[in-house]
Amino acid sequence: MPNCLSCHASYLENKLIIGLGNTLLDFSSDQSINLQFLNKLILSRHDSSSLAYKDFKIYKQALEVIAPLSKTNTQGVNPADKYALILASHRNNESLEWQSKASVDIDKSVIPTDVPAWWLLKKKNAMFYTGVGRGDFSRLMMASSLLSLNDSSDAHQIDSEFANMYAFIMSIDPPKYSKTIDQTAAKNGKIIFEKNCQQCHGTYGNNPTYPNLLIPLETIKTDPELIKANFSNSSMVDWYNKSWFARPPFASQLVVQKGYIAPPLDGIWATAPYLHNGSVPTLEDLLNSSQRPPIWKRNFNIEEYDARKVGWKYHTPASKTDTQTYDTSQKGYGNQGHYFGDGLSLSQRSDLIEYLKSL
Ligand code: HEC
Ligand code: HEC
Repeated sequence: MPNCLSCHASYLENKLIIGLGNTLLDFSSDQSINLQFLNKLILSRHDSSSLAYKDFKIYKQALEVIAPLSKTNTQGVNPADKYALILASHRNNESLEWQSKASVDIDKSVIPTDVPAWWLLKKKNAMFYTGVGRGDFSRLMMASSLLSLNDSSDAHQIDSEFANMYAFIMSIDPPKYSKTIDQTAAKNGKIIFEKNCQQCHGTYGNNPTYPNLLIPLETIKTDPELIKANFSNSSMVDWYNKSWFARPPFASQLVVQKGYIAPPLDGIWATAPYLHNGSVPTLEDLLNSSQRPPIWKRNFNIEEYDARKVGWKYHTPASKTDTQTYDTSQKGYGNQGHYFGDGLSLSQRSDLIEYLKSL
C-alpha cells in the first residue's frame, strides 16, 4: 500500500529528497485497477485466513470505494484531501471501524492540491493549505492511516510511532540551491522582498521570523474551491472533532477559516509548481500574473528544470487533450490571485527571484 513517502518524497537533480512533494504521481486514472491482480498475487502466497491477507483486505475495501471518486484531471496534482473525506465517511468516528455505507454525502468533484514540503511544517502553527488542522500535529498526520488501520485499537498501537514521525519531520531541512546565485542581484532582491513580501512570508537567514498568517480569500484571490470543498465540509469537520483523533491527551481539531496560509518560502526553488493547486509552473510566472499560462504541459518523463524562471519548463498547447496537460479553466485548477509581484519591473522581478533561490 502507499506509504507517506509515495507522496512526500521525490527526486530532483538525481537526488532523492525526503519531504519534497511528489509531483510526478498520476491520479488521473482509477487507482483500483490493479487491485484484482494484487489480490490474486497475495492469495498465491498467503492463505485467505492469514494476517497478511487480513491487512490487505482493509486497504482493498477502502481503495475500491476511494479510487473511482478521486480521479484528478491532470497528472501531478494530488487528491489526498478527497481520500480523507471518503475515509472519514466510511469509518465510525469512535471505533474507527469500516462501515460499508457512507455516513456523509460525498461531492463528485475532486479538488486538486500540490503536496506541501515537509520541511515547512516546523514553522507552522496549523496544518494544511487552509490552516484547518489545529492542535496535536502527530494526531492529524495519523488520520492518513485510516486507509489501512483496522480499528481504534490499531490506532492506539501506532499513536507513539507518530510522535516519532513528527520528530523526524521536524528535523528535515530544505535542499540548498545547487547552481550559482548572483549575489549582487540577490542583495537587491532581498530589499524588494522586505518591502513587498516579508509581511506575509517572514524573514530568512539568521534569526528568521515567520508570522503564521492565514490570508483571507478576499485578499489572496487564489482559487477558492479547496476552501469550499473537503475539509470545509461541515459533516466532515464534525466527524473529526468528535472522533478518536480529537480526544486528549493528544487532541487535534479541524477549524475552518476562509483563507490560505502564506507559507514559509524555505527551499522554494525546489517545490515547483506553485500555489496550493500547483497551477503555476514557475516563480517568474507566479510573480507576473499576466504571464501565467492558462494551459500548460510539462515533461513528466525527463526532468526539465528552468533555472531562469525557476520551476518546470513547459509547452502551451492550444487545448487540453491529454492528462498531462494542466487546464487552469477547470474547477479547482484556477491560477488566479496572488498579484503581489505584478507591479515590479523586469529587473526587480529577476533580482527578487535571485534572492528567492537563496532561501
Ligand atoms: C496520497 C498522497 C499522500 C500520502 C500517502 C500522505 N500524504 Fe501527507 N499530504 C498530502 C497532501 C496532498 C497534503 C496537503 C493537503 C492540504 O493541505 O490540503 C498533505 C499534507 C501533509 C502534512 C501537512 C503539511 C503542512 O505543511 O501543512 C503533513 C505533516 C503530512 N501530510 C504528513 C503525512 C504523513 C506522516 C503521511 C503518512 C502517514 C502522509 N502525509 C501520507 C498527500 C499525502
Ligand atoms: C498578503 C500576503 C502576501 C503577500 C504580500 C505575498 N504573499 Fe506570497 N503567498 C501568500 C499566500 C496566502 C500564498 C498561498 C496562496 C495559495 O496557495 O493559494 C502565497 C504563496 C506564495 C508562493 C507559492 C508558495 C508555494 O509553495 O506554492 C510564493 C513563491 C510566494 N507566495 C512568494 C511571494 C513573493 C515573492 C511576494 C512578494 C512579491 C509575496 N509572495 C507576497 C501571501 C502573500
